[in-house]
Amino acid sequence: YKIPTPTNEPVLSYAPGTAERETLKKALEETRAKEVEVPMYIGSEEVTTGNKIAMTPPHDHKHVLGYFHEGDSSHVEQAINAALGAKEAWASLSWEHRASVFLKAADLIAGPYRNKINAATMMGQSKNAFQAEIDSACEIVDFLRFNAHFMQQIYDDQPSSSPGVWNRTEYRPLEGFVFAITPFNFTAIAGNLPASAALMGNTVVWKPAYSQVYSANIIMQVFKEAGLPDGVINLIFVDGPVAGDVIFNHPEFAGLHFTGSTAVFKQLWKTIGQNIDKYRTYPRIVGETGGKDFIMAHKSAYAKRLATAIVRGSFEFQGQKCSAASRVYVPSNLWEEVKGYIIEDIKTLKVGSPEDFSNFVNAVIDENAFDKIAGYIDKAKANDMNEIIAGGGYDKSKGYFIEPTVIETKDPQSLTMCEEIFGPVVTIYVYHAENFEDTLELVNSTSPYALTGAIFSTDRYAIDLAAKKLVHAAGNFYINDKPTGAVVGQQPFGGARGSGTNDKAGSALNLLRWVSSRTIKETF
Ligand code: SER
Repeated sequence: YKIPTPTNEPVLSYAPGTAERETLKKALEETRAKEVEVPMYIGSEEVTTGNKIAMTPPHDHKHVLGYFHEGDSSHVEQAINAALGAKEAWASLSWEHRASVFLKAADLIAGPYRNKINAATMMGQSKNAFQAEIDSACEIVDFLRFNAHFMQQIYDDQPSSSPGVWNRTEYRPLEGFVFAITPFNFTAIAGNLPASAALMGNTVVWKPAYSQVYSANIIMQVFKEAGLPDGVINLIFVDGPVAGDVIFNHPEFAGLHFTGSTAVFKQLWKTIGQNIDKYRTYPRIVGETGGKDFIMAHKSAYAKRLATAIVRGSFEFQGQKCSAASRVYVPSNLWEEVKGYIIEDIKTLKVGSPEDFSNFVNAVIDENAFDKIAGYIDKAKANDMNEIIAGGGYDKSKGYFIEPTVIETKDPQSLTMCEEIFGPVVTIYVYHAENFEDTLELVNSTSPYALTGAIFSTDRYAIDLAAKKLVHAAGNFYINDKPTGAVVGQQPFGGARGSGTNDKAGSALNLLRWVSSRTIKETF
């Protein structure tokens, strides 16, 4: 059989006057009006504990969208047992049936669930309609469809044989269960991490960020409706260290699929290392972590294009994409023009609730994030080497709103140039236009991360030099484009250095981590 050749799910615009805007608005109103209760999904059970945690929109934190039921270590045990119990049947199911479940899930999201999941992402994670659409409608659908296609490419990759000998490669799932830890910032990533491992025949315990449970619940409902057998993916809401204590001490722990902070990932890696003798197999560790993504411009760049990329790349989804630009290097010859464009552009970005479609910048995810980002803005203001050229304000009385903030710094090693902020804050260093090569060194050495980066130039030699000097500085490198918005099937996504294991999401490379192949030689 052949998996249908995937194409990217078309992005709806939600422009004023479109029918899609009206139906999405209705879904938003329903999401606001109806309180939901979210159970954990363990095996065939929907588990409620009575330990209810409120889900609130970041842009309206006094409003309650519903509650989810938090579990404890006993639920982690139950989820592992459910995953192990479902393993044999799922792993021995012919691959086209596993693919069919996730292809059907993709169709359900692209069709009847589209408004519901977009509304969930808008309300639960404070994304505007367009940012929700590219995430919880298109990217998740693309992951599900393209992964099936990549799975087939993997299975098709067979060794050569010779007369009298037939060699085969069997792509077995890992022996044990996979643990998926997923972030708040992309509904698509939250769905993809458990789904990609499950597609390859694994069974999974899935722990989402507490700030993404609202949309995680819809993904789980879609998987169930698509026919995912009980126990293949088990969704639990348990405090990180409590869950980790059970998972990482379990002999059948076989893999970690993680997106989140560098600090947590390193801690988990250490824990796994310390427990290595307990496991039946060396666990696969796949992680996408922090970033300090850059835009570097050469004196030959187009000023307007560069300014647009800085604003979009830094402030879409409030700078909470792991790919968001947060440090920028602009040559002195372009700066006045670029600065003018940036200031003009930012004036058009309204800050407020995503329920009002005219707002581009919405709230940051929670109070901790708000306080941390506001703290960085305060420190930047207190530094004489800095000037705030746009934004700088913040207010958490109704929602966690932070103005898109641009800091111009004379110190390329200043705090906000170096540390990950994960908010709508970008710092710009203006370098002498003739110091391009030295500044490339600076770009390369300033941050321990290497997720995304961009070079803007119209000079081929400059682009070539940047690509070579920055060869390890970004897993996704953009030429004359903003460093956000990787599309599944077009730009496989992931970073190296402190940004992760670079097992590109949305590619066969990632899926290969969820199999352990067996080589079979048969002689006749
Ligand atoms: N894939 C997203 C982007 O490229 C980040 O996770 O923006």
